[in-house]
Amino acid sequence: MTNTTHFGYKTVAEDDKVREVAKVFHSVAAKYDIMNDVMSAGLHRLWKTFTIANAAVRPGFKCLDIAGGTGDLAKVFARQAGPTGEVWLTDINESMLRVGRDRLLNRGLLTPTLLCDAEKLPFPDNYFDRVSVAFGLRNMTHKDQALAEMRRVLKPGGKLLVLEFSKVAEPLQKPYDFYSFKILPWMGQKIANDAESYRYLAESIRMHPDQETLKTMMEEAGLERVTYYNLTAGVAALHTGIKL
Ligand SMILES: C[S@@+](CC[C@H](N)C(=O)[O-])C[C@H]1O[C@@H](n2cnc3c(N)ncnc32)[C@H](O)[C@@H]1O
Repeated sequence: MTNTTHFGYKTVAEDDKVREVAKVFHSVAAKYDIMNDVMSAGLHRLWKTFTIANAAVRPGFKCLDIAGGTGDLAKVFARQAGPTGEVWLTDINESMLRVGRDRLLNRGLLTPTLLCDAEKLPFPDNYFDRVSVAFGLRNMTHKDQALAEMRRVLKPGGKLLVLEFSKVAEPLQKPYDFYSFKILPWMGQKIANDAESYRYLAESIRMHPDQETLKTMMEEAGLERVTYYNLTAGVAALHTGIKL
């Protein structure tokens, strides 16, 4: 029997979800950065800055940025880890990874970039000091499997950081829905010539586990001291956990 999952609000076969997610990111890669700035009014930069501060990467650290896309986190981690460190920019999508790799190279950062699936990480156990995933987990089919892989590759004492859209505080729900379902696809059409991908974005956010559910999932994956921080009234949340 074919296993099914969600692609936004649609129920689809698991393989179809992987294909549909790939289509979204091939389509938006070239306009991804500008769309992020416009649709979040620059807020995604603050959320990432908070994540970077929480990661506290030091010289010599080994870091893995999963679903790293255009490289916002990896580029800062690479500078912080310095020449004695090792920072990998990884993503399942070639179009996104190419943009990220070129951005890092243009800034003089020679970090390894690798096309790989978060659900099957090609790294040894106990290797990284930090593993990060920003706005990527939502798109993964088997989130439990991906979280287990993230834990596996962390060193004992290493930290996982999951930055993701989350459940917004009750009073903001109506205006946020209006923004997400009316304005966002319109902007997507105007800027990236692709309303559909931004409709998927809004739907996938609604289908993603809320703060407490994701915390439980991380604990079930074996992470300890799991905690989260609501950002902008829960529009996004940073979850962190330690491998002990
Ligand atoms: C919204 S982008 C986030 C990019 C970047 N981390 C950021 O915060 O700007 C989501 C990324 O997740 C990637 N992705 C989706 N499923 C994945 C998987 N199973 N393994 C690795 N990356 C995946 C997509 O290709 C896409 O580049």
